[in-house]
Amino acid sequence: MCGIIGYIGKEDAVPIIVDGLKKLEYRGYDSAGIAVLGYNGFDVVKQKGRLAILEERLASRLLENKPLSGRLGIGHTRWATHGEPSDINSHPHVGSKNKIAVVHNGIIENYKQLKERLEHSEHGVSFASQTDSEVIAQLAEHYYSGDIIDAVIKVSNAVEGSYALGIMCIDEPDTLVAVKKDNPLIIGVSDHGNFIASDVPAVLKHTNKVYYLNDKEIAVLKEGKVQFFNMDKEPLKKKIETITWSMDSAEKGGYPHFMLKEIMEQPRVLRDTIQSVFNDGKNKNVLDSVNISGYNKIVITACGSAFNAGVTAKYVFEKLCRISVDVELASEFRYKDAIIDNKTLVILVSQSGETADTIAAMREAKSKRAATLSIVNVVGSTIAKETDYCLFTAAGPEIAVATTKAFSAQLVLLYILAVRFALKTGKLTHKEEEAQLAEIASLPDKVKMLFEQIDAIQKYASTCVGYKSIFFIGRNIDYAIALEGSLKLKEISYIHSEAYAGGELKHGTISLVEENTLVVALSNCERLYGKIMSNAQQVISRGAKVLFIGNCPRDDTESEKLYYINLPKAAELFSPSLSVIVLQLFSYYVAANKGLDIDKPRNLAKSVTVE
Ligand code: M6R
Repeated sequence: MCGIIGYIGKEDAVPIIVDGLKKLEYRGYDSAGIAVLGYNGFDVVKQKGRLAILEERLASRLLENKPLSGRLGIGHTRWATHGEPSDINSHPHVGSKNKIAVVHNGIIENYKQLKERLEHSEHGVSFASQTDSEVIAQLAEHYYSGDIIDAVIKVSNAVEGSYALGIMCIDEPDTLVAVKKDNPLIIGVSDHGNFIASDVPAVLKHTNKVYYLNDKEIAVLKEGKVQFFNMDKEPLKKKIETITWSMDSAEKGGYPHFMLKEIMEQPRVLRDTIQSVFNDGKNKNVLDSVNISGYNKIVITACGSAFNAGVTAKYVFEKLCRISVDVELASEFRYKDAIIDNKTLVILVSQSGETADTIAAMREAKSKRAATLSIVNVVGSTIAKETDYCLFTAAGPEIAVATTKAFSAQLVLLYILAVRFALKTGKLTHKEEEAQLAEIASLPDKVKMLFEQIDAIQKYASTCVGYKSIFFIGRNIDYAIALEGSLKLKEISYIHSEAYAGGELKHGTISLVEENTLVVALSNCERLYGKIMSNAQQVISRGAKVLFIGNCPRDDTESEKLYYINLPKAAELFSPSLSVIVLQLFSYYVAANKGLDIDKPRNLAKSVTVE
C-alpha cells in the first residue's frame, strides 16, 4: 500500500527519488519522505501530506542553501496503517542510534512484542513514532555488528508479516540493501546507478532492465554492481528481465489526469490484449495448454473492479460453455473453506497481481489442489508467478487509482478464455468460435466510435454533480456492468451509489427513489429492453431522472427526465466492453466537474497489499 524507492549511483539521488515517488504515489499519499546518506550522516526530509508538499520543503532547503543531496538515498510515499498520517510517522525511519534508515511497505504483525523487547532491552531503545515500521530500523541497529547483510537476515527472521524494505547503514555508505516478503520489489540497473522500487514505472525513465526480487531474497546494491543472497547468505543467480512498457506510458501525455488518458488508451489496449492471444507468445501458449475438460467447476475470485470483471465473465462462461461459475470476493473466499478440489479451475483476476486478499485466495485454492489461472497486468507480480497459468493483460502501467484500461483488458481476456473453453468442450464449432472472436476483435473500433460522444457525456455529467445518490440498474450482463459503473462513480466522485438488478428495485430499493434521484439504466440485452425500460418508467414516475445507456431500438422519446446515450451494436455478451467506457467517462466528468483529485481519491490506494 506504500511505495518505496532507493537509488545508489553517480547522480544526485534526490531528483531521481522524487521523480520515482511521483510514479509511485498511486500506492498511497498520506505522507512522503526522503533520506540521503551524505558525509554528515543521514539527512531526512519527511512530512504529512502529498508529495507536492515534500517538493516544496526540498525547494525551500535549496533556497536556504542547504539542499538535500547525496548519491545514496531512499524514499517513501505512505498509505497509513499503523499510526495516523503525521510528520513523525512518515518514512524513512531512522533508528535511535542514527545508524540505520529504513523505508517499508507492508505490515509488521508482531511489532508490539518486538518494540517492547527493545524498549526493555539493556540499552532501552526509545521509539519516536507510532508505526510498526520503525521497529525495523531499531531492530536492525540492535542486530548490527559490522555487516548490514547479517543484520537484515536477523531482522527478516524476527519479524512476522509482510515487507518490502530499503535499508541504508551509516557505516556502509556504498551500499543499499533491499529485502521483501509478500510485497513487491524490483531492482533496476542502469549505466549511472542502481535502484530499488515497488513498481517498474518508478525506474522506467532510467532503465528497462530489472530483476524481480522473490520473498526472502536480499539484494545488495553498489554503484556499479548488484548481488543477491538468500537467508543463509549464499549468493543467488537471478535472471534480468527487459520491460517492454514505454516511458510515455507512465506520463500524462497532455491529459489533465491519468484516468482520462487511460480511458482514451483503451482501443489500443483492447487490440494489443486481443492480439496477444493469437500471436506466438506466453498468452497463446497458456490458452492452448489449459485443459478445460479436466475441470467440472470454475471459480473466479478477485477484489473491487477485478471482481466485477469476474461477475461479468460469469454470464459469458455460463452462456458459452454451459458450465456453472461461482464468483467470489477474494476477501471472503479466503476464509470460507471453499468446496473446491483438483477438478476445480480457480481464476484469479488482478491488475497489480499483488492484492493481499487475492494472493490469499490463490494460496487457499492451491492448498486444496485446485488449478489456478490468473489474469494479471504486472509481469513478475506475486500472482503471476505463483499461479499455474497466467494470462497477461496488455494494458501497460495503470497509474490512476480507479482502474479503467486494465478492467477492459481483463474483460476481453475472460471473453476469449470462455470462447476457447467452449470450443474445447464442444459447445462451439470452429465456425461459431470464429464468429465470436470476430465480435471480440471488432470491439476496439467500436470503442473509438463511442469516443465521438464524449462531448455529450461530458455535458450530461456536468449536470450531475449535485446528486447525493446515484443508482445503476441493469438486467443479466447489464447488471454485472452496472456494478462497475457504480464502483467507478463512488470511488472518484464521492457520490453515494449502488447498483441493482433492475428486477430487484421493487423489492425494496425503490423506496429510496424520490424527486431528483438519478438512475443510470443499462440496456444492451435487446430481449430485456422492455423490462429495463419499464423499470426506468417506474422510477421516472416517482420523480427520478434516468440516464439510459444502451444499443436497443428505443421507443420512448427523450424528455427532461430521460436522456439517452446510444452505444454501437455489439453482441450481448461482449457489450459490457462498450457500456463500461460510457460509465468510466461519466464518472470521470462528474468528478472533474466537482474539481476532485481524480487520480488519487481520498483514502484509497491502487495496490491493496494489506488485508
Ligand atoms: O490490483 P487488483 O486488480 O487486484 O485490485 C483490485 C481492486 O483493489 C481494484 O480493482 C479497485 O477496486 C480499484 N480501485 C477499482 O477502480
